[in-house]
Amino acid sequence: MASLFDLEQLDAKVRHAELIKEIRKADEAYYQKDTPEITDAAYDALRKELEEIEAAHPELVTKESPTQTIGAKPAQGFKKIKHAKPMLSLSNVFSSAELENFITKIKRFLNKHHLEKIEILAEPKIDGLSCSLVYKNRKLVQAATRGDGTEGEDITANVMTIGDILKTLPDNAPEYAEIRGEIYMRHDEFAALNARQEEAGKQVFANPRNAAAGSVRQLDPSVTESRPLHFFAYSWEHSSCKTQKEIMDTLKTWGFPIADGIKVFDDVEMIKRNYWKILEGRATLGYDIDGIVYKVNDLALQERLGFVSRAPRWATAHKFPAEQAITRLIAIDIQVGRTGALTPVARLEPVTVGGVVVSNATLHNEDEIARKGVRIGDWVKIQRAGDVIPQIVEALIEKRDGTEKEFIYPDTCPACGSAAIREGDDVVRRCTGGLICPAQAVERLKHFVSRLAFDIEGLGTKIIEQFWEEGIIRTPADIFKLAEINQTLNPPLQDREGWGELSVQNLFKAIEDRRTIALNRFIYALGIRQVGEATAKRLAATYGAWEAIKQATYEELIEIEDIGPAVADDFIAFFAEPHNQEVLSALEAVLTIEPFEAPDVGDSPVAGKTVVFTGTLTQMTRSEAKARAETMGAKVAGSVSKKTDYLIAGADSGSKLKKAQEAGVTVLTEDAWLALIGA
Ligand code: IVH
Repeated sequence: MASLFDLEQLDAKVRHAELIKEIRKADEAYYQKDTPEITDAAYDALRKELEEIEAAHPELVTKESPTQTIGAKPAQGFKKIKHAKPMLSLSNVFSSAELENFITKIKRFLNKHHLEKIEILAEPKIDGLSCSLVYKNRKLVQAATRGDGTEGEDITANVMTIGDILKTLPDNAPEYAEIRGEIYMRHDEFAALNARQEEAGKQVFANPRNAAAGSVRQLDPSVTESRPLHFFAYSWEHSSCKTQKEIMDTLKTWGFPIADGIKVFDDVEMIKRNYWKILEGRATLGYDIDGIVYKVNDLALQERLGFVSRAPRWATAHKFPAEQAITRLIAIDIQVGRTGALTPVARLEPVTVGGVVVSNATLHNEDEIARKGVRIGDWVKIQRAGDVIPQIVEALIEKRDGTEKEFIYPDTCPACGSAAIREGDDVVRRCTGGLICPAQAVERLKHFVSRLAFDIEGLGTKIIEQFWEEGIIRTPADIFKLAEINQTLNPPLQDREGWGELSVQNLFKAIEDRRTIALNRFIYALGIRQVGEATAKRLAATYGAWEAIKQATYEELIEIEDIGPAVADDFIAFFAEPHNQEVLSALEAVLTIEPFEAPDVGDSPVAGKTVVFTGTLTQMTRSEAKARAETMGAKVAGSVSKKTDYLIAGADSGSKLKKAQEAGVTVLTEDAWLALIGA
């Protein structure tokens, strides 16, 4: 019979192996697939348990244990980069007591009296992905992800597209510098990105961190460029500074964005107070932070303190509790969007999460419902990050009592009864009812008058809904007939509650002001699938006039920068649809669509020329280069054709360069191009 001690030993060994397996699985999902399978809190708990077992049973520690390694091996598809100095992880503390213990241990290690003061720099822990930037001759030459801490992925081309990241350091910076920091996405931009993704039937991201990671780890830099990414610097390796604070101040003077609220304390009570203050303000920051990082301020002391396996002894992260709550899922409603996309919305029993009452949560799409296995009536764990729409994390299956009902995703549109189908590998189910679908029609009208479209003051979403329901406005052209329509209403608008003579006159005037509309706004207002503001502008700039836009062909469209086959398809399909043709001719009858006004380019040497950029540019991002070319009157195309005048070839130019050489197109280096435009 095994002794008690042996049994404990055996249990520990089994649990140790289990934990390693679970942590590896979670690491892979998080680092390589950018799709976490468990919450951060659950992950931290697994690691903590593993650390405790290893502390009690040191014989179980191996080199491969997750306690000794960081993250996951870099994914395939990116060049590997070995870090000059490992990119480490941080240990965590979860309470004031653990924080005090962290400081006590530091003092003990340094042989300081417990009453002696030690300066600690406190800064927000940004919830994004870490990135190392290497500058040579003050030029950004390399950017890498953390990877497994030793080797990361080469994301240089992608990082070149991020505006916050300096491409050149000022003259007072040393010739060589490695700066590290966090790439992240703001809440508002994350929500807008997800809306665009959803609309286009593409993957939606679970949170801003995943969206940032997914956007950076793209094999095509133009995808990264189209994503709203930001950066906060937090370290300068091998610096000549004396303190962490001095590093931050220097980085700031160089022009790097630095997170708000970085402070130095030498009193633990102040550190705690600071923690609560930052925690309270967390929801209003506009981006996710998941704790506070504490670093010993004095770099000489940091050096002395060194590292314990994968984390520095001189730093730790005080993690915030996740903003989660448990509530009941009352119903799942299906909303129908402008392009017919069916979106499930979870209706919840109201509950407070992080100081905000939440009664709706997003469920993204039908696959997500199936993946999470939620049923109506389930107790669900919901999570809210800042301003982002709350999400359902999981259903608490153990709380089921058998009354929960499975949700059957509809295959007909709840608004018009038309078939709702999924095409190809589209994750979104769409109503096929087109303009006969009232939900789509209302949403289209709302889009038509929205800020970047017709932007009619006094005609907001509520009024559009009300006018639609009463049949006052059914199509966009009706808006411009509102004054006439009003004469047939009984009672007319000015005699209704909430309206008066003046507000009605103001509304009519706002509508009249928009009877003449800029071409790009008009195109955007049509709400063609995948044609957002930027695409509309590009189309307007390329074709110049509405008459020309209507004649656009698929072959021409795909030649335009940023317009791919999918967008071109949707564009052509829109004009081919008889209902849309009716709407368009009705609009043409009541509107003046102004030709696109090309910027004044004076005697620019590249006015009217078609240029294509390829390869990695070093002096500026691709978007900046494009914008520059366009303001100089050039047309920027996405691929080389007979019409191309110049190909600007940066480093590592591939097939486009070859094609240009074959076609006899003039090829310019980045410097030659800059010289040509006089930059
Ligand atoms: S310092 C050796 N400072 O947290 C020091 N890291 O859990 C490690 N992070 O990989 C980095 N904000 O991605 C530091 N202000 C901050 C940070 C920060 C976010 C991330 C970073 C790191 C991870 C460690």
